[in-house]
Amino acid sequence: MFNDLKNKVAVVTGSSKGIGQSIAERFGQEKMSIVVNYYSDRLGAEKTVELIKAAGGRAVTVHADVNTESGVQSLLKSAIDNFGKLDIWVNNAGIENRVATHEMTLEEWQKVINVNLTGVFLGSKTALDYFVKNNVQGNIINMSSVHEQIPWPGFSHYAASKGGVKLFNETIAMEYADKGIRVNAIGPGAINTPINAEKFADKEQLKDTLEMVPMKRIGDPEDVAAAAAWLASNQSSYVTGITLFIDGGMTLYPSFQYGKG
Ligand code: NAI
Ligand code: BGC
Repeated sequence: MFNDLKNKVAVVTGSSKGIGQSIAERFGQEKMSIVVNYYSDRLGAEKTVELIKAAGGRAVTVHADVNTESGVQSLLKSAIDNFGKLDIWVNNAGIENRVATHEMTLEEWQKVINVNLTGVFLGSKTALDYFVKNNVQGNIINMSSVHEQIPWPGFSHYAASKGGVKLFNETIAMEYADKGIRVNAIGPGAINTPINAEKFADKEQLKDTLEMVPMKRIGDPEDVAAAAAWLASNQSSYVTGITLFIDGGMTLYPSFQYGKG
């Protein structure tokens, strides 16, 4: 646990399931107050609130599309109306779908870019505006991926969105560093969440994925949540602009693991 997180107020986008839900629960264990954002899964968001409250934190749910200005504004408003302030904003919401690039429609491209990259811009802009105007040394965490670095055939829109998150993250970290505002990204590898449920239910695909993970296990959402708590806390007070990979070694050129090449 990180004692300085107690009573801090956070927005976590896309926290009705998966990594976002786990981050929100971990923040609850840190006795924080959390705005739990959902897009379609209201019951999932209510479950997240239960988990937070059981852990000793406070929480409310807010329906919002992170790809709209009114959506992200409603998340900020909820933090202020319910908990009086904002300290931490986690841009976690993200989507993916497999489609060959020559068959990808403009609509498919835009959908992924809108949520994964424009959503990160809108969330960050909203939090930064509040931090600057209220002189808050706030904290932003952006959910990237190993695919900000590793190309991913069949997912060019997704890889492009995460590559965009990487440089956006680094740029705003530099832009606001002298105000004491910290901005960092997390780059998960293969994590056991609903986004991967179908893939990991298939034995062959699970085996193929594990071959790309030197530690030979799929990550748990809690592994990512622990990184988010550390980045949100003062224990990382001299860290800004990084991507912290939580990937069991996936970014380490796994094909070299057993001396091939
Ligand atoms: P998930 O599918 O379990 O959860 C995604 C969340 O985003 C859901 O709560 C969904 O409702 C929300 N969301 C989608 N569109 C939204 C919108 N327009 N507005 C608000 N919320 C919206 O996926 P998972 O795995 O928890 O992913 C979370 C983040 O982590 C994503 O950004 C994803 O790209 C990233 N990531 C996940 C990895 C994994 O292996 N699971 C690995 C690397 C990155
Ligand atoms: C994707 C997962 C994938 C992982 C490793 C993540 O960005 O969301 O579906 O398993 O990268 O390839």
